[in-house]
Amino acid sequence: MVKIVIQKKIKDFKKIIKVDSDKSLSIRSLLISSQSFGLSKIINLSKSGDILSTIEGLKQLGIKIIFRNNLCCVYGNGLNGFDYKKNILIDAGNSGTFARLILGLLVKSPYSIKLVGDKSLSKRDFRRITIPLNQFGASFKSKNYSLPLKIIGTDHLKPIDYFEEKGSAQCKSSILFAGLNTPGKTIVKAKKSRDHTELFLKYLKLPIKITKKKKYDLIEIFGERQFKSFNYIVPGDVSSSAFFIVLTLLLKNSKLTVKNVNINPTRTGFLKIINKMGGKIKFINKRKICGEIVADIFVQSQKKFKSINCPVSLNSNAIDEFLIIFLLASKASGVSRFKKLDELNKKESPRLKLASEILTKMGVKNELGKDSINIFGNPNLRINKKILINNYRKDHRIFMTSVIAALSFGGKWVINDKDSYKSSFPSFLRIIRKLGYKFWEVINKFKISRQK
Ligand code: S3P
Repeated sequence: MVKIVIQKKIKDFKKIIKVDSDKSLSIRSLLISSQSFGLSKIINLSKSGDILSTIEGLKQLGIKIIFRNNLCCVYGNGLNGFDYKKNILIDAGNSGTFARLILGLLVKSPYSIKLVGDKSLSKRDFRRITIPLNQFGASFKSKNYSLPLKIIGTDHLKPIDYFEEKGSAQCKSSILFAGLNTPGKTIVKAKKSRDHTELFLKYLKLPIKITKKKKYDLIEIFGERQFKSFNYIVPGDVSSSAFFIVLTLLLKNSKLTVKNVNINPTRTGFLKIINKMGGKIKFINKRKICGEIVADIFVQSQKKFKSINCPVSLNSNAIDEFLIIFLLASKASGVSRFKKLDELNKKESPRLKLASEILTKMGVKNELGKDSINIFGNPNLRINKKILINNYRKDHRIFMTSVIAALSFGGKWVINDKDSYKSSFPSFLRIIRKLGYKFWEVINKFKISRQK
């Protein structure tokens, strides 16, 4: 357990950075290549903890994977090609995405497989996955619908017609993965959420049909079609870039370009929110790589932000960025209102509740509802006191948001358990150093402090 101490604001900067590769696409590229036939080459795979858990899990299932430098080689054995012994255990670590998506690929597993995760993942509800996969024919054993959980597959899979109404891409993708392994046509009517799985399967020319309706997408997939291995290039993670975009906006006289970021519209809801609050973002050199849109993102500091009555329709497409958006709302003129955010409390930690606690510590007035928050912005916000961030259930996004708040608004912050960020964004602190900030890291056990 380590804590990080931030004593003052960061100075203005003009920089070009690269963030780590996209987590959602990294996990999908590994899982999908494990189902193909032959050697797939994945370039720029993320090296975050969640991806390492995915690789370890697939290796447990008999998939050969060699990951060196920027190249990951996955030797797929085709659909249902996992090869493993009885009673294996897969540890998903902190990764909800891996845990939920892999279950979709295990609906035909002949032996029971136990899935476990860390403390935070073990608190999350898996009913959103077990209910649809049960309809395919798979069975589950668990206490309270959470991890540890056992899945037992079946040889008699039936395709399903399912309404995914939470706007959960993990749930939608898990169903599509089960559909890949099931004879016949699986149909998902899914409330809008990130569409990486659909785009990926389309890019591989698999038989998937997507009909976009106003409020939901209708996705049809025809299963049991074997496919060949492929090459895939993973772009930068827009959710990771969000921390530095907001930091730049909140400072004075700073400019930032984030190179090579995935700007899939189902992931950039937060940029629309920023735009509505008066922030200006530019996409440069837009291009398509492996079925996804990629661009460089340019942003510069801005003096004023408007408050927002955030449209609920943007919730799902900004779900991982609300914490950082709340910082922008803290500096806006007027009251910003965010509602129907119950999904935010179902992440690695109850994020809506913890965000309210942190804002209160920062001296930002806010009203927390069951699934809503109103934030009373202060355009002159400056923090002069000591703030301790403790016990945030090792949530990487809470940690990174706290660091950005400290760098933007000042104060003396002590933030515990910094290693959580490695689950999604291992180069986070390195980038802050690149932007010119030196911080203190305190190693509790030996009472040593050192400057990084
Ligand atoms: C993800 C989907 C989202 C998101 C998570 C990654 C994915 O979760 O919060 O970080 O890669 O499919 P939900 O599906 O629970 O909304």
